[in-house]
Amino acid sequence: MVNVKRCFNISELRKAAKKRLPSPIFHYIDGGADDEWTLRRNTDAFEQWEVVPSMLTGVTDVDLSTQLFGQDLALPFIISPTGMSRLFHHHKELGVARAASKANTYYGLSSMGSSTIEDVAAAAPGPKFFQIYIFRDRGLTRRFVERCIEAKYDALCVTVDTAVAGNRERDIVTGMTIPPSLTTRSLLNFAGKWSWLAGLRHNQDFTLANLDENIDPLKSGALSIFEYVNQQFDPSISWADIGWLREHWEGPLIIKGILSPEDARQAKALGATAIMISNHGGRQLDSAPAPIDCIPGIRDAIGTDLELVVDGGIRRGSHIVKALALGASACSIGRPYLYGLAAGGEPGVTQAISILEAETRRFMLLAGFDSVESLRSNAAIRRVGFVNKLSDA
Ligand SMILES: Cc1cc2nc3c(=O)[nH]c(=O)nc-3n(C[C@H](O)[C@H](O)[C@H](O)COP(=O)(O)O)c2cc1C
Repeated sequence: MVNVKRCFNISELRKAAKKRLPSPIFHYIDGGADDEWTLRRNTDAFEQWEVVPSMLTGVTDVDLSTQLFGQDLALPFIISPTGMSRLFHHHKELGVARAASKANTYYGLSSMGSSTIEDVAAAAPGPKFFQIYIFRDRGLTRRFVERCIEAKYDALCVTVDTAVAGNRERDIVTGMTIPPSLTTRSLLNFAGKWSWLAGLRHNQDFTLANLDENIDPLKSGALSIFEYVNQQFDPSISWADIGWLREHWEGPLIIKGILSPEDARQAKALGATAIMISNHGGRQLDSAPAPIDCIPGIRDAIGTDLELVVDGGIRRGSHIVKALALGASACSIGRPYLYGLAAGGEPGVTQAISILEAETRRFMLLAGFDSVESLRSNAAIRRVGFVNKLSDA
């Protein structure tokens, strides 16, 4: 049993997750598309930015609270939607949502989750949003929206970077494909993973819990639920579909997967309330730019009317500070909390959140900022090498 409290940073939580999980499942979390260039770049790009601290500011306490999608949050980072949390730990989405709720930050439930919209709402009273895709079967998308209204979700997030599923080659090697093609060799990786195997006694909810069993091809047994959903990604979706969605959902609408100022302007024109600058954690288009580098251009294009959430590659509090200093309203994390979940269930997620909170707080004390607002308005952030270039001139 891993003592997650001993994991003092996200990299240590990742190591603990790797140890506990059968390797096909670990690589399903950890991997990206094609050559994984974007996956690496997402984190590496933070190293191109530096923050010049202010000294003797008398800052003794840091207020990390922020507002997002109409709610007051205790933290400037939230939980991104990720599919099938049951694969990683039997606490699944409910444990993640509870941890987010205790930290008073947003939990984003994926439409590919292994827990239902209603069960998450019942388990965690904190702020939450639901992530949808605009599926070929628009009726399916509509039903999701109706269920979110009924369950009183605070916001709806539509992911637009998944015209087709990305090419994740680690999953091809391990057999974590749709349908699964686990070989004897990959199944051997489950042997000896006692803590993960013991979780099977608690529940075996390895299913896309939000899909209605009454869908025809599922009823007739013609397709597995996973094959059915995979066929539902619709490359023909366009901005008109965002307009359509807007008509059915009146609350805060977040568009996830925007990387260019032009697309951000379109989103604003169609009534989005927020944008998640995201490349799906490097799991979709390899060669897409790192989200941190997209903030200045997008903020310039949309002004202060829309909230901007930055998601991808965040592994340190310093990364959160840099994104906020560049103009993000908040950040969002995927793998950091999944490593925590995989390492130790709900307490592991709490540990991931606590690590990033403590690192962000310490950075702000060292740099002389007492609040997210003061950081956003006063931080001196610049590209690394800026000083040298000036002195060379
Ligand atoms: C295992 C896994 C599953 C994911 N599933 C979804 C999903 O169902 N819907 C979605 O919009 N994004 C999904 N994402 C992307 C995350 O929401 C987020 O954009 C990404 O993880 C952020 O990058 P990070 O992991 O470096 O923090 C997934 C990411 C991972 C790692």
